[in-house]
Amino acid sequence: MDWEHFYRHYRNPGFIPGYEILNKLGSGVFGEVYKLRKTSIGKFYAVKFLRVEDEALRNAVVRELESVKLLAQVDHPNLVSIEDQGEVEGIPYIVMSYAGDRTLKRVLEDGPLPANQAADCFGQICAGVEALHERSIVHFDLKPANIYLKDAIARVGDYGLSKLVSQTQHSLSFGRGTPYYMAPEMLKRRGDHRSDIYSLGVILFECLCGEVPFRGDTEWEVLRKHESEEIRFPAAVVEPFRSAIRQAMAKAPEDRFSSVAALRQAVTPAAPTSRAKATAAAPPPGIAEHFPPAPGAAPPVAAASPAAHLVLGPVRLVVEGVRQAAGIGWAILVALVQIPLRLLAWALHVAVFLVMVLIFFIVLHLLFKIPLILVGIP
Ligand SMILES: Nc1ncnc2c1ncn2[C@@H]1O[C@H](COP(=O)(O)OP(=O)(O)OP(=O)(O)O)[C@@H](O)[C@H]1O
Ligand SMILES: [Mg+2]
Repeated sequence: MDWEHFYRHYRNPGFIPGYEILNKLGSGVFGEVYKLRKTSIGKFYAVKFLRVEDEALRNAVVRELESVKLLAQVDHPNLVSIEDQGEVEGIPYIVMSYAGDRTLKRVLEDGPLPANQAADCFGQICAGVEALHERSIVHFDLKPANIYLKDAIARVGDYGLSKLVSQTQHSLSFGRGTPYYMAPEMLKRRGDHRSDIYSLGVILFECLCGEVPFRGDTEWEVLRKHESEEIRFPAAVVEPFRSAIRQAMAKAPEDRFSSVAALRQAVTPAAPTSRAKATAAAPPPGIAEHFPPAPGAAPPVAAASPAAHLVLGPVRLVVEGVRQAAGIGWAILVALVQIPLRLLAWALHVAVFLVMVLIFFIVLHLLFKIPLILVGIP
């Protein structure tokens, strides 16, 4: 594995055959990420070069890359797709679709999301994770930095190295990973899909509060809190979020939701299932407000054909008219019921006021009268 050679040559055309490596996007637990352009079609990708110095870990990486072939088959709108994998100068790499530069982490740096947008965004994240779990893939590194937001769609990334994360996180070589989203059992190397459910609970908390539930001066302090401390909610977090977060972040995995689908249902009861969501054409309106499409992005695909619009147009008008008329009727009814109730309340207020005035004068009268009686003046 020759990184010096890598840095000297990675910009050369053909370093990765068929691609041109552009700027560095950043680095994380497992290596360095660069933006990539496929020369033949000009399309952008991201490539992660895996930095694994340890020989045992390197063997694990090579084994894990085998399963990347399977992951490349996963096609879901809420997942960053895996496009290719290979090795150059002894350095293994994974090519992913380019997911843009807006991560949920960056969005949350500006503060929490309004509840409806948090629910929309979280529903999409859950749909992505559900698609992984359906294929028996556990992510193990769910966090806002691994969730990308583009054109009102949330995509979960970095699921290709899930087993490696679970193998290394127990060693607590922190500074490499983050303990803020880690389920307590991960410390004992006992993680499974319910560890992802725990991390999702932390993410939902952070979406609503703008910060993670447990902080500390050291990594150990954070982990200790995950193991033993109760979650404290700010007043702004209401139901059903509170109960959902509490259950998702239960200390014992068996007390958590049994599936991501159940967690998603608890937060967005009316949301479609992951499969239905995968085929839905338009993004939900709430998240679209908060994450407007990038300039030049294609408009959302129309859900119905022009012929369907011809038929549905007048029907929708009638339905809308009836709905508005019903709304006005209901408002009038409420007002009619409220008027006598308000009058009654006013009358009661006035009566109480008059009784108070009367009592005041009686007391005043007695205060003057008593001394006079005492001195014998009738
Ligand atoms: N598919 C992608 N599309 C666009 N940007 C990406 C993609 N994958 C990674 N990046 C960006 O590259 C940088 C490094 O990512 P990387 O995944 O290595 O680190 P991380 O997400 O901070 O931590 P972790 O290693 O735990 O995932 C980040 O800024 C990330 O947003
Ligand atoms: Mg990442």
